[in-house]
Amino acid sequence: MTTTSAIDPQTLLARRRPEWSLERAFYTDPGIYAADIDRVWKRNWLYVGHVSRVRLPGQYFLADVAGESLIIIRGKDGAVNALYNVCRHRGSRICLEPSGTAKALVCPYHQWSYQADGTLTGARFMPEGFDRSKFGMHRARVEVAAGLIFVALSDDAPSFAPVARDLERFLAPNGMADRATICHTHTARVKANWKLVVENFRECYHCEGSHPEYLSAVSWGKKAKNQQEHDERVAAAEQGRERWKAQGLDVDGTAFSADTFHHCGRGPLKPGYQSWSLDGKPTAPLMGSQTERENWLVGFVMYPNFFLEGGCDYISTTRVLPISACESEIEINWHVHQDAVAGVDYDVERVTAVWKATAEQDLTLVQNNHAGVESERYEPGPYSTMEAPDIEHFLSWYARQLSAPAMAAGRGCKHGE
Ligand code: FES
Ligand SMILES: [Fe+2]
Repeated sequence: MTTTSAIDPQTLLARRRPEWSLERAFYTDPGIYAADIDRVWKRNWLYVGHVSRVRLPGQYFLADVAGESLIIIRGKDGAVNALYNVCRHRGSRICLEPSGTAKALVCPYHQWSYQADGTLTGARFMPEGFDRSKFGMHRARVEVAAGLIFVALSDDAPSFAPVARDLERFLAPNGMADRATICHTHTARVKANWKLVVENFRECYHCEGSHPEYLSAVSWGKKAKNQQEHDERVAAAEQGRERWKAQGLDVDGTAFSADTFHHCGRGPLKPGYQSWSLDGKPTAPLMGSQTERENWLVGFVMYPNFFLEGGCDYISTTRVLPISACESEIEINWHVHQDAVAGVDYDVERVTAVWKATAEQDLTLVQNNHAGVESERYEPGPYSTMEAPDIEHFLSWYARQLSAPAMAAGRGCKHGE
């Protein structure tokens, strides 16, 4: 994809004012959107889904990623593969159903057939000398950490190792790799640029005015009223950390720094809460290997599309997907213990209540934000002290991605490489 806009993103970036929102073109211009896809989405790690969707060999689901359709499929050898959904004969889509199980991937056009690792195994009436080994499906890079599947379309993607380490150490107690399943999925379209969605998810300046459900469970979403309240919060958090450490839980998070693109941490719900629920009462059986109901909330963010929050009895993941300069999609999945039975061990409404309400409120805010940004009277505005560090970290990272040299064409992984 090439950038066709007359607007030069580098000129706009050069005059970008730190800790202020971006100029309108960054949120609305199709050319800058194309540059975003090329330089941000095609060369960074992207979350696509949980391993419970591909537990068995041949199980697959489709993932739209940076304008591409990928087939995420488990091979006979147990590996998770990400294959471009493009036939090597004349280019047809191969998988048309959003998910399923396939013994072989058979193209609906002329029935070329492929194994789950992309190897071409069947192609009728091809001329003498046709070498099947040269026509395997193109593959994207795949990493699986704590049961979460990530893909990258480019060799230029940064090292995934630090992200994998943090996912494993923070999510191992929840059994996300081998003892969790999805209990509910919620997808929603929002008429807003993807950066406005991420900016919203990165700050809590708006929480007090918009998120009663979220704030019913956590105290740090709004500033302490006085020094005493502040001190009580700090003391409660410290006591929690000591308890959680004694239970073998990792409590030392990773902060965003100048050269990172993820962060994670474990913080407290309100005292006495046993779940991230509206009333603090449990919503589902404990996940994984845990034996104690505790009031912690784990949080994980990875630019540009992965947000995770959850407690001892469920984990929610939020995946952001750009659709166009002015439209995005989010997909939220809630994960519980795989043996838990809906309607018996948990009520899905209770599991999803806090984050579903919060996400819907956020999408309304973001849509209003985008509508205002489209006005000719919009101009960048300054961030508050509650927003500045987090949004600025994201926008600085974004600016670095956009300023980096364009990738050479065809840097994705070819079959067999
Ligand atoms: S396009 Fe797939 S077999 Fe012809
Ligand atoms: Fe929010």
